[in-house]
Amino acid sequence: MKILVVGGGGREHALIWKIAQSPLVKQIYCAPGNPGIAELAECVHIGADEIAALCDFAKAEAIDLTVIGPEVPLTLGIVDIFQAAGLDVFGPNKAAAQIEGSKGFSKDLMARYNIPTAAYRSFTDHAAAVAYIKEQGAPIVVKADGLAAGKGVIVAMSETQAMAAVDDIMLDKVFGTAGASVVIEEFMDGEEASFFAFTDGKNILPLASSQDHKRVNDNDEGPNTGGMGAYSPAPVVTPELHDLIVETIVRPTIAGMAEDGCPYSGILYVGLMIKDGQPRVVEYNARFGDPEAQPLLMRMKSDIVPVLQACARGDLSHTSIQWHDKAAVCVVMASGGYPAAFEKNLPIAGLDAAAQVQDLMVFHAGTAFKGGQIVNNSGRVLGVTGLGQNVKEAIDKAYSGVAMIQWKDVHYRHDIGARALNR
Ligand code: AMP
Ligand code: GLY
Repeated sequence: MKILVVGGGGREHALIWKIAQSPLVKQIYCAPGNPGIAELAECVHIGADEIAALCDFAKAEAIDLTVIGPEVPLTLGIVDIFQAAGLDVFGPNKAAAQIEGSKGFSKDLMARYNIPTAAYRSFTDHAAAVAYIKEQGAPIVVKADGLAAGKGVIVAMSETQAMAAVDDIMLDKVFGTAGASVVIEEFMDGEEASFFAFTDGKNILPLASSQDHKRVNDNDEGPNTGGMGAYSPAPVVTPELHDLIVETIVRPTIAGMAEDGCPYSGILYVGLMIKDGQPRVVEYNARFGDPEAQPLLMRMKSDIVPVLQACARGDLSHTSIQWHDKAAVCVVMASGGYPAAFEKNLPIAGLDAAAQVQDLMVFHAGTAFKGGQIVNNSGRVLGVTGLGQNVKEAIDKAYSGVAMIQWKDVHYRHDIGARALNR
């Protein structure tokens, strides 16, 4: 088979690392890819959002399966375009990707199908939003309706902060059209976990559990990021809780989407808040989590290609997944300053040495080639992912890799996986 992966981050590097192990695969392309991916796949100079050019490429190269990594091409309708061209593609279509692309859409879906989540209301009128905040009080959460590169959610600890968020989104339009409408919802307390399931629109195949660390600094301090590290399995998700999540959230979500005439296929990412053993939905994403994909894929024993193909073709009922009985931990190495401004094009040392370590993978998230060297190119730069017999060993393995890698101002957390150890 010839496979095309769309995207160029740590998630796509991990997907390609896993796909490359399949005996079914003859050639892998990645658009646009990155220097780490280039060791396993042929990188193509087409951006992840250039849907028409990607479709032309897939037709010209007779690609057997295209796997979409990030959310933006999904919400732009890349799957619809590929399917119309008769190409197999993994991911939800444009209508189904609204589950991530519109907070209002996902909140309405959950309300319709009694899926547990925070109480909420949607507003397009600024005065009405302000009145609702006054009535509800703080803490309260303000969300821009559309995609805002992970920055459109403000967890407000005071009414003043919530009002300021509504002003920024609705009056100053800091997220552009993504903020034409806002969702204001109840603050949920608890522990967060990420839950993933493959689905063909009817059948579901849950993945192993995982959890990420969203805040930039140790002890969950500082601003939210795309994720500073992740681990799998996540002890907070006990077998009982796993079943509860599947039965009260994942199944009704997939059944509800089908019922609404908008069947969802691909991988569903459910962000959860867990309190007293009860899971509630924080958000849905229409894609694999990043960095969660990195430890999850290192633990996956089965060939992933038949699973991706079955989702794309609408028949997952004969497929299963085996997992290694090991733990995996991913430590994100980021540019100093992230998630705010940071310096780019800084040469990274130690990659060759780290590549020699067994049960360790250095997935590239934001690197580039410059003057014959690999340099940092965005906020999250590397996902150093280690496998071990247990969480402690996996943590040690990942940090042994981190210790070998260096560049100016590099920033990473020192406590990835600690929450799992403490349980
Ligand atoms: P989202 O983009 O919806 O994942 O939100 C980003 C982060 O904001 C989540 O991972 C949570 O940490 C936090 N968050 C979102 N909604 C809520 C809520 N209703 N209560 C508490 N925290 C929330
Ligand atoms: N790790 C969070 C995300 O992928 O959105």
